[in-house]
Amino acid sequence: MTDALQHNPLAVGLAKSLLPQPCTLVIFGGAGDLARRKLLPALYNLRLDGLLPSGFAVAGFARTEHDDASYRALARESVERYSRRPLDPAYWPEFERSVFYVRGNFDEPAAYHALAARLAEVEPQCGVPGNRIYYLSVPPSAITTCMEHLDAAHLIVPVDDAAHFSRVIVEKPIGHDLQSAREIDSALHRVLDERQIFRIDHYLGKETVQNIMVMRFGNAIFEPLWNQKYIDHVQITVAEEEGVGTRAGYYEEAGALRDMVQNHILQLVCLTAMEPPRALAADVIGNHKLDVLHCLRPLTGADVEHQVVRAQYGPGVLDGADVPGYRSERGVKPDSTTETYVALKVFIDNWRWSGVPFYLRTGKRLPKRASEIAVQFKDVPPILFNANRDAPLAPNVLVLRIQPDEGLSLRISAKVPGAHARVYPVKMDFRYGTTFGDQEPEAYERLLLDVMAGDATLFIRRDAVEASWTWITNILDAWQQHGGSTLPEYPAGSWGPSEADRLIGAERRWRTL
Ligand code: BG6
Repeated sequence: MTDALQHNPLAVGLAKSLLPQPCTLVIFGGAGDLARRKLLPALYNLRLDGLLPSGFAVAGFARTEHDDASYRALARESVERYSRRPLDPAYWPEFERSVFYVRGNFDEPAAYHALAARLAEVEPQCGVPGNRIYYLSVPPSAITTCMEHLDAAHLIVPVDDAAHFSRVIVEKPIGHDLQSAREIDSALHRVLDERQIFRIDHYLGKETVQNIMVMRFGNAIFEPLWNQKYIDHVQITVAEEEGVGTRAGYYEEAGALRDMVQNHILQLVCLTAMEPPRALAADVIGNHKLDVLHCLRPLTGADVEHQVVRAQYGPGVLDGADVPGYRSERGVKPDSTTETYVALKVFIDNWRWSGVPFYLRTGKRLPKRASEIAVQFKDVPPILFNANRDAPLAPNVLVLRIQPDEGLSLRISAKVPGAHARVYPVKMDFRYGTTFGDQEPEAYERLLLDVMAGDATLFIRRDAVEASWTWITNILDAWQQHGGSTLPEYPAGSWGPSEADRLIGAERRWRTL
């Protein structure tokens, strides 16, 4: 390991064989939102940490009019605006020298020939031996076209090529439903081997999401209780304060179920519910996560009506300011029935989780950005300190805070000091910020590094994409059959529609975050 690697916390535990290899990252959609907000700042931070391979180049590839100079200016502005650490003028020139731009239409063969010619020119300057990663930050419908052209322009080498590698990163959502996901996967597989495909779900790169496994399997005290005998229910919340913003074009077609549940939230369910893997190997973990998806009780027909609530935000007030309803947002149809909120009651039909409801909810324009997994344990017996039926003890709750205020807390009962046996719920709290000080790396930093190293552990397998689409498509079908005219509305800045309270029932409550 280099000195920089040894001294960087991100590098801890990186085996030699998994070190990132010299490569070019070609960003399809290089001038778009994702590149500006996440990818370019992530690469810059990796460079600052000394984690990028010594031979490295990044090439933006898109239709927008740019040359190297203006793209470097765009990269600089992205880093200034979105990087977790400020731009360091001493480092910038070195980073900037590895940034290039190729203009082209994804559906024109000439664009790919121009890309090939440019890569052949810049890679020797940057010490890149021809290894390439293509990041397809494009709508799902464009993936097939991009793959066909990459192949036709000989930009992909076979997986067993001893000298070079070609890898492709695919952004979620992969498809629109089961059928389209299968078509996209077939298009990928016509050109690539599964080992060359990295289906990204940035939630898996978040430190707190990786910590779910550490918390469960690195401690002796949780796993014995992690089952239907001791757990009453689980609540997973991914709340966003932001509205649809500038992404209506995409979101109108997607909605909260496809945008957040099919991928991020089901991945959180898998990590929370899976069996202990025998090794930290991509396939072993992948198999266990897949098992969870296979055990999800299908929601079809009338179940969907009772166990799924969808809604759309109307006008409201957030942080003291009036905000428009979804249908008045730029690019949204005035009669749109796209859901911006969804809540579900889900069961995992296996030995460990039989009968334990998992309540899942996500929405835009909720009062704040807050994501967590809360595991509520069963009540203690109604004797001793819990004998008073009018004032039952608060149950134990273990909360994994994914963001913000990343950490973990456990609610327990404690005696209030004094002569009386009064019991009060208190919290044991661990915060990343106070314990580890330093800012956590962004999810994309870790994930890009993993692709450069060829490690697929934190990526989604083809069978998992199919399994989650199979489950989600049942719900989409039921919605389609029953139409969307009765979509409830919740005021922006509220915690969602009252129908969601009905879903969780009278005996339980959504947590206040
Ligand atoms: C993306 C969704 O995958 O995740 C967005 O497409 C959403 O709609 C975003 O806002 C949330 O990510 P994070 O990391 O801010 O929770």
